[in-house]
Amino acid sequence: MGGLAVRQMRESDLERACEVTRRTVEWLGEREGWRPEQMAHLVADQASPESMGWVLRRHEPFVATVDGVLVGMASAQRCELARLYVDPSHHRRGIGTALFGAVEEGLRGAGCVEMAVKSPPTSVPFYQTMGMVEQGRQPWGADFMSGHQLVLMAKRLAGGGGRRRSDE
Ligand SMILES: CC(C)(COP(=O)(O)OP(=O)(O)OC[C@H]1O[C@@H](n2cnc3c(N)ncnc32)[C@H](O)[C@@H]1OP(=O)(O)O)[C@@H](O)C(=O)NCCC(=O)NCCS
Repeated sequence: MGGLAVRQMRESDLERACEVTRRTVEWLGEREGWRPEQMAHLVADQASPESMGWVLRRHEPFVATVDGVLVGMASAQRCELARLYVDPSHHRRGIGTALFGAVEEGLRGAGCVEMAVKSPPTSVPFYQTMGMVEQGRQPWGADFMSGHQLVLMAKRLAGGGGRRRSDE
């Protein structure tokens, strides 16, 4: 796709990254059947400047741009992919694949033998296309998300010894 680039997030990306994340969380919430108060909690949790700033400082997230405009982001914590969000107006154009690839490469470089993700059910087909396999399901974990589940998925990155998410 013309104009697609993936790079590290910068301080100047924060506002737009929050905007894209908010729109994507709202898109996802409609599909997952989240109640309005659950959606509001998750928007505050994932798309506030404070939480995005924290991710920027701690986890060196990636952003995807199309013709210089930020349209998606992805982060990783230990050997686990997190906060992969692509603006709904740009879905199915290979942007999620590019962000997933950048995180995967980073995790391989960090010595992870396995890449994990906790996915909302809606996004499972995407992760399956990326080579991830369902390992099980668990409740969301946060009290305010009661009634919803996350799908635990993993992809083997390398043989032999190395890091797993559960090592730390
Ligand atoms: C999951 C997500 C990141 C995918 O981003 P994307 O840029 O649309 O993904 P891509 O275009 O790279 O998709 C690659 C392939 O994955 C599969 N895929 C992607 N979205 C799919 C969907 N909704 N249903 C079925 N298959 C899907 C397809 O095989 C697709 O290839 P194709 O378009 O040629 O058929 C995006 O839908 C998103 O932001 N979802 C909401 C946020 C979310 O759930 N994030 C994960 C939380 S950890």
